Amino acid sequence: MTQEAMTELRKFVAPEFVFGPGSARLAGRYAKNLRFKKALVVTGPNLIRLGWAGQVIDSLREAGVATTIFADVTPNPRDYEVMAGAEVYRREGCDALVAVGGGSPMDCAKAIGIVCANDRHVLDFEGVDNVRKPGPPLLCVPTTSGTGADVSQFAIINDTKRKVKIAIVSKTVIPDAALIDPTPTTTMDPELTAHTGLDALTHAIEAYVSNAQSPVTDLFALRAIELVRAHLVTAIRRPDDIAARSGMMYASLYAGLAFSNAILGAVHAMAHSLGGFLDLPHGLCNAILLDHVADYNYQSAPGRYDDVGRILGARLAPDMQSDDRKQAVITALRDLKKDAGVDQTLSDLGVRPAELSELSAKAINDPCMITNPRHPKVEDIRALYEAACRFHA
Ligand SMILES: [Fe+2]
Repeated sequence: MTQEAMTELRKFVAPEFVFGPGSARLAGRYAKNLRFKKALVVTGPNLIRLGWAGQVIDSLREAGVATTIFADVTPNPRDYEVMAGAEVYRREGCDALVAVGGGSPMDCAKAIGIVCANDRHVLDFEGVDNVRKPGPPLLCVPTTSGTGADVSQFAIINDTKRKVKIAIVSKTVIPDAALIDPTPTTTMDPELTAHTGLDALTHAIEAYVSNAQSPVTDLFALRAIELVRAHLVTAIRRPDDIAARSGMMYASLYAGLAFSNAILGAVHAMAHSLGGFLDLPHGLCNAILLDHVADYNYQSAPGRYDDVGRILGARLAPDMQSDDRKQAVITALRDLKKDAGVDQTLSDLGVRPAELSELSAKAINDPCMITNPRHPKVEDIRALYEAACRFHA
């Protein structure tokens, strides 16, 4: 830890949360305490089919809170979905929001709240601290372990005209409370478990090497990496293993607290570009890019990447040359990806060479790039995309 980090002023924001199996059933009690009368429940069709949205709605109704469901939310949630949700919220006379789902319903609910409170279009809030009035109270019940949206001050929304994901970063979008229950994550399939788990790992690593890290974010980031190493593969292989699912839910929570306060880096900037332009899955994009960006970033934060590598099982002897250390860290990352079943390239996802210039131009302007430890030129980003198109993990 540097002397600067010990003496600089650092802020850390986090919502109230309840962690543990069964916490989702506290939704009614929390809604009542927060004086909800009618909640817009933002969720997805899958969560309704699996019964997780119903469980939360039952709890709300038992507490005397009326509900309206809004489930027209896709992965990489779009600007027009937010505006449609805001319309339903107003039309139905709602006074609160409850999100049940992964990052997409939670980000959509956050955005609906600020659209309604400020009577503006969602794209007007792009950037840092551009929300004047906070939204109505928001309760989040995450059903995946990776996103961190349940505790973060981020909402990521797809600007469908520009085909770019915008980041809304504001304390006003931090939920009023999060009910973090590992039980719903037992119905995630192995692929979704792997992708969301590697998203959590990426949050933790990018927060740890970020220019905006602090001793507090470091604590959460390092523990999140340990937990992913300890539990991800078990959660993939044994979906009902509640200890592994709890471990991954803690990993997601810790990584979310770390990145909400330390921000992210080039992996997320590049994944946002892929998600906005080609509508590709967020967690998988991060997982594919993670080791390539580590290779590029290593020279700017070698000690921090060594810490990450050690936690992931890299053997780093004190007399090793810098290049060998870097290679050992990258190998540890690739081994974990392989164990999680992620071995695709960006080409496998349909990314074509002709698209790389536009993807790179969009990524370089993403706000997450600002806190990346090494400041890339657009040609560097293009080279990273090219490598991620070619090489398997
Ligand atoms: Fe992410």
